[in-house]
Parts: sequence; C-alpha cells; structure tokens
Amino acid sequence: MKYQIAIDGPSGAGKSSLAKALARRLGFIYVDTGALYRTIGYYCATNGANTACAEEVVAKLPEITLSLAYENGSQTVILNGTSVGDKIRTPEMSMHASNVSKIPEVRAFLLDTQRNIAEENSVIMDGRDIGTVILPKAQVKIFLVSSFEKRALRRVKEMREKGIEVSYEETLADMIARDRQDSEREVAPAVPAEDAVHLDNSELTLEETVDAAMAIITSRTDLV
Ligand code: DC
Repeated sequence: MKYQIAIDGPSGAGKSSLAKALARRLGFIYVDTGALYRTIGYYCATNGANTACAEEVVAKLPEITLSLAYENGSQTVILNGTSVGDKIRTPEMSMHASNVSKIPEVRAFLLDTQRNIAEENSVIMDGRDIGTVILPKAQVKIFLVSSFEKRALRRVKEMREKGIEVSYEETLADMIARDRQDSEREVAPAVPAEDAVHLDNSELTLEETVDAAMAIITSRTDLV
C-alpha cells in the first residue's frame, strides 16, 4: 500500500520543515516540488531567457532534463546531469520560480516527474497544487497557513542560516507579491483542495505543528 500525503500552502508557512519531519517519522520520501520550479527558473535566468516571458521560457524547456535525487535523506535536483544545490534558494530565484510556475507548459513539463515518484514510493509532497492537481487522490491533504509576520520571520532565519543576508521588510514585500502571483494565476492556483484540512501554525512550534499534522494523518489513515 502506497500512501500519499499532500501539503500545500503559501511560501514560508513551514511546509518543508513539517513535511521533512513527517517523512522522517513515517519513513516516507519527502518531495519538495517548489525545487523543480526553482530549477526551471534558475536555468532560464542563467541562460538568457526572461522568466516573465512565457515564450522565452517555453523555448528553453527542450534543453532541460530534470530528476530528483536523494543524498543522505535530503532531496536535490539534478539539472542536465549536475546537482543544483542551494543556487535555487535565493530571493531572486524565488521570483523566477513563481514567474515560470504560471506557465501551463512548465506545469505540464513537471507533471510526470512528480506523479512518477508518488507511484513508486509512499510520499509526503509539498507545493501549491499537490492536493488539487498532482495527487488528487492523496489520502491526506493539509493546507498549511501562517500569519504574514511569522512567515517572513521564518524565511529570514532560514536564509541567514544558509548565509544569505536578507532584510525582514524586503522578505515580507517579496512574500506578499509572490503570494498574490501564485494564488491569482489561472493555472493551478495555490488554493486548498475541497477535502484539505486547514492547519494554522502561526502560534505553534514546529513540534506542535508536527503533532497536529500527525493527528490529522492518523484520523484519515491507518498510520500511527
Ligand atoms: O515552495 P517554493 O517557495 O520553493 O516554490 C517556489 C515557487 O514555485 C512558488 O512561488 C510557486 C511555485 N510552485 C508552484 O507553482 N507549484 C508547486 N507545486 C510548488 C511551487
């Protein structure tokens, strides 16, 4: 029996920390789908395509081969044979990722990579459209939300831990702009699936969020 757990929600809500902790606890594979959009954004931006121009991005797709690999339990994206590492994690790459993610051809390009991994493994997948488009039959769907303030604070901490210096104000402004673009786009907007359970972790620690998610998971599956 394969399990599919979908975690969707806006950037900075803590999806990846939650999903990683749950994957460890359940022994499932964690799939960070945002990394795929980031890698396409990265490739386009570093190979002369304007990510705000759909035609330029679509023209680059035939040059791109992507796959996911796992090193010591961590996911990395292999782009044309080479691991992209943390180069896709800068604020600039976040906006490129959001830009390319609006393009239907890009979403179609990434569909099989995401579905195939869920066919072969029990997964916890995080993104924006996992419960609505990628894994509509997931046994558990969680839509994770958090206040803007908490999300921006977490993102600043996360970036600083990676040695990337960013200001709170700038991070908050970027987040508001990206949220709007991600939730108002025409294809696969970042909205909750009808059968998703909303979890607000503004006032919860990571441990409390994991416990709350585990309670949702055990109520919907035979997992304990
Ligand atoms: O989760 P993230 O911040 O790494 O995602 C980067 C961008 O990719 C985000 O702005 C929206 C897009 N994205 C998406 O459209 N669908 C997904 N399943 C995951 C990410």
